[in-house]
Amino acid sequence: MKIGILGTGMVGSAIGNKLVSLGHEVKMGSRTANNEKAVAWAQGAGAKASQGTFSDEASFGELVFVCTQGAGTLDALHAAGAQNLKGKILLDLSNPLDFSKGMPPTLFAGNTDSLGERIQAAFPDTRVVKTLNTVAADIMVNPGKVNGGDHDMFVSGNDTAAKATVSEFLKTQFGWKNVHDLGDITTARGTESYLPLWLRLWGTLKTPMFNVKIVR
Ligand SMILES: NC(=O)c1ccc[n+]([C@@H]2O[C@H](COP(=O)([O-])OP(=O)(O)OC[C@H]3O[C@@H](n4cnc5c(N)ncnc54)[C@H](OP(=O)(O)O)[C@@H]3O)[C@@H](O)[C@H]2O)c1
Repeated sequence: MKIGILGTGMVGSAIGNKLVSLGHEVKMGSRTANNEKAVAWAQGAGAKASQGTFSDEASFGELVFVCTQGAGTLDALHAAGAQNLKGKILLDLSNPLDFSKGMPPTLFAGNTDSLGERIQAAFPDTRVVKTLNTVAADIMVNPGKVNGGDHDMFVSGNDTAAKATVSEFLKTQFGWKNVHDLGDITTARGTESYLPLWLRLWGTLKTPMFNVKIVR
C-alpha cells in the first residue's frame, strides 16, 4: 500500500520503518518540505521511503497515520488538507498532552471531549480511527516484545468498516492479537484519559515497555 505518516518523531519513525520493512511505500510528512529528521529518515529507510510536506504526505497515502504532537495535530491536518484526506482512513495515534505547565503533562481534552472527536468534527469526510495511542512507539509495531504479545489494543471511531480494516491491519501487519472495538469516536475519551496513568506507570516501572491486558 501507499501509506502516509504525519510526524517526524519517534512514533512516525517507528511506524515508517516497520511499514517499509513490510514492503509498503511510505511518505513521511512535516511542516516543511525538507525537514532534517524526515530527510534523514527517508535516506536511511530505503527506496520505498520518501518525505515531503503534510500535504504531500496526505495526497500520497491511501492510509494516513497521524503521529504529531497533540497540540499541533489539528494544524497539521489542516495543512494536510481536507480534500487530500477525503474518504480516507486516518489512524490517530496522537495524545492531547499539554506540556505548557511542565511535567507531568496534563490533558487539554478529556472527560466530555477528546482529540479524536475534534479531528472527526473538523474532518467529517475522513474516517478517523483512534488507536495505538496507549503504548510506546516500539510496542505499537512490535507487540511481541511485551508478554509474548498477549496484551490489548483498542480502536475508536464512527465508521465500523474503517475500524474493522484498522483492526485487521494491526493484526496482520504489526502482530497484534487482541484488538477491542470500543465504539464510536467518543470512546477515544477513555484511551486518551488513560495517559495520566500511563505516564505514572512509566515513572514507577522505569520503562515504557509495558501495556494493559484485559482479563475477565
Ligand atoms: N512517543 C511515544 O512513544 C508515543 C506513544 C503513544 C502516543 N504518542 C503520541 O504520538 C504523537 C507523536 O509523538 P512523538 O514522540 O513521535 O513526536 P512529537 O515530538 O510529539 O511530535 C512530532 C511531530 O509533531 C509535529 N508538530 C509539533 N508541533 C506542531 C504544530 N504546532 N503544528 C503542526 N505540527 C506540529 C512536528 O512537526 P515537524 O516535523 O514539522 O517538526 C513533528 O512532525 C504524540 O501526540 C504523542 O503523544 C507517542
